[in-house]
Amino acid sequence: SPLLSWSPPSLTGWRRPWIHPSGRLGSPVPPLQQTLNMYLKCTSHLITEEQLKKTKAIVEKFGAPGGMGEFLQKKLLERSEHTANWVYDYWLEDMYLSNRLALPVNSSPVMVFPKQNFRSQSDTLRFAAHLISGVLEYKSLIDGRALPVDYARGQLAGTPLCMDQYNKVFTSYRLPGPKTDTLVAQKSTVMPEPEHIIVACKNQFFVLDVVINFRRLNEKDLYTQLERIRKMSDIEEERLPPIGLLTSDDRTQWAEARSMLIKDSTNRDSIDMIERCLCLVCLDEPSGTELTDTNRALLMLHGGGTDKNGGNRWYDKPMQFVIGADGSCGVVCEHSPFEGIVLVQCTEYLLRYMRGSPSKLVRAASMSELPAPRQLHWKCSADIQTFLTSSADKLQRLVKNLDMNVSKFTGYGKEFIKKQKMSPDAYVQVALQFTFYRCHGCLVPTYESASIRRFQEGRVDNIRSSTPEALAFVKAMDVEKMELLWTAIKAQTNYTILAITGMAIDNHLLGLREIAKELKLEKPELFSDTTYATSIHFILSTSQVPTTEEMFCCYGPVVPNGYGACYNPQTDHIIFCVSSFCDSAETSSDLFVKTLEGCLKEMQDLCTKCNTEAKPADSTKRKDGTTKVMKNGSNVHKCLKNMSHCKC
Ligand code: COA
Repeated sequence: SPLLSWSPPSLTGWRRPWIHPSGRLGSPVPPLQQTLNMYLKCTSHLITEEQLKKTKAIVEKFGAPGGMGEFLQKKLLERSEHTANWVYDYWLEDMYLSNRLALPVNSSPVMVFPKQNFRSQSDTLRFAAHLISGVLEYKSLIDGRALPVDYARGQLAGTPLCMDQYNKVFTSYRLPGPKTDTLVAQKSTVMPEPEHIIVACKNQFFVLDVVINFRRLNEKDLYTQLERIRKMSDIEEERLPPIGLLTSDDRTQWAEARSMLIKDSTNRDSIDMIERCLCLVCLDEPSGTELTDTNRALLMLHGGGTDKNGGNRWYDKPMQFVIGADGSCGVVCEHSPFEGIVLVQCTEYLLRYMRGSPSKLVRAASMSELPAPRQLHWKCSADIQTFLTSSADKLQRLVKNLDMNVSKFTGYGKEFIKKQKMSPDAYVQVALQFTFYRCHGCLVPTYESASIRRFQEGRVDNIRSSTPEALAFVKAMDVEKMELLWTAIKAQTNYTILAITGMAIDNHLLGLREIAKELKLEKPELFSDTTYATSIHFILSTSQVPTTEEMFCCYGPVVPNGYGACYNPQTDHIIFCVSSFCDSAETSSDLFVKTLEGCLKEMQDLCTKCNTEAKPADSTKRKDGTTKVMKNGSNVHKCLKNMSHCKC
């Protein structure tokens, strides 16, 4: 493993500024006309002729010489001269902090670990102690600037990537606010200062100091402390209301509850301890459900609701390690400080650490007199009780509403696609477009996250995968057109390169919109146009999160009538995690996955037929889901309601 065999680079490696080929620091601002042309290209086939005519006129006016677009572009360029990353603040606010939706399902992705086999409670605690030990190791690598610098893989491989996000893994906190949240950062230090984690058990929160007297607790100490916490949580008379449920509510509601809560000094102290912890370890009760991949994904996403482990969480903290007594384990991640790829690096390190470093429970000496872990106390007024009841209700609705399907497509994997000389990521994206078209008879604005960590403080931009070329291909699939598959793959790959080199349109348009707001100018018509609203309503929200360990990532849809589709391509198979909401009559995760399998097989057949060189051994017959009836009783070839104006 590159992480374990790696020796520390020089500090300059870690601190190196990310220099754009043009010689500039940070990401480039794309040329205005390029973005406007691309905007029209990305939306024109997804809207009506009439709307397109209107939008074309608006875009032309915006981009005219001496017009608003040129003015805003100049301001953006000025901004880019004096900020490390001109889009970072705008993007963080727009993507996360101003989003009022509840964090579970809607925002926080999860990593699902392979199912563990715990035979006893001590097994569970041993696993937890081992994991915490790994977390402390990993944190000391981050603090000592000793993590290897990541390099881009796949397209345009080899560029060093910005490592800033790692500094935020154990030091951030998302503070809820009435209108917008704040991402609070604690200073990270190399000195072993007093540090603690919070252990959640039976909806109670306990402070577990992990550095005492300048010494990090060893695994045996950690185990001893966890055992004490377990015993304390068993005392029923000491049980307090499940305050963690408040953090699962929508952000404005939680902000309101929090300001009421901190009026009391006991609550203020408890909240302060949680906000300053390194991470949470949630010791969950057995879920009582069959631990299939899909059910374990659900348990990570929402804890199974109030009657299971829904209250055993604190969603504002970026890292919550969940260890279920029944073996259902994983990580819940508050997404605003870092991307899924950083989460994967961290969790893969931990899994390898646990596999490679045997538990040190027997050999290590325990501190003789460890101070007892402390339970956090809460004073719950009647108002807080009312908030709790409402948060519990909403979480239950979220739990009932999530329609999830985790499936392993075993027909083929990356290897077959590479043999076709195609980018596996582009291929999967085109397959997702094909699937959506088969399910709904149209294409919709699609989001695919593209890393821009090549640039300083770079996070992501969007690859708009529903390209006109993809539409041409999916429409032609009935007559099997290999050439159109090639064109669609090429369009997708070109867009990917555009995005990862900082030339995509979403961040740029966001920058133009936000700088106009900052300058207190009237909102340009471009951004009040229906096309713009449609273009950022991402019915299909996708992301590649590859892993080298046996685990997978998943998340919920970002709009009520949408799908979340996370995929993990492996050599000979691909894991798909598809989510949607049950109360949307248009969507169905099961149907989507079934159709996807059929589409992937059809694409394989097409490739195999047209390329005898790359004939796979296990080519299977076509199997599509076109006759499947949707939840609303309609046939699958049906446009989504809000896209009924679309032309396809
Ligand atoms: N022929 C043969 N092989 C090809 C090929 C072609 N035409 N095109 C690509 N490949 C190979 C690549 O060299 C790479 O090889 P490797 O497995 O040996 O590294 C492999 O196929 C994968 O490349 P590709 O499928 O093109 O994807 P990618 O790895 O470049 O990923 C993105 C594309 C957009 C997903 C990636 O750039 C990115 O941004 N990832 C981050 C996504 C993210 O942020 N996720 C988390 C969100 S929370």
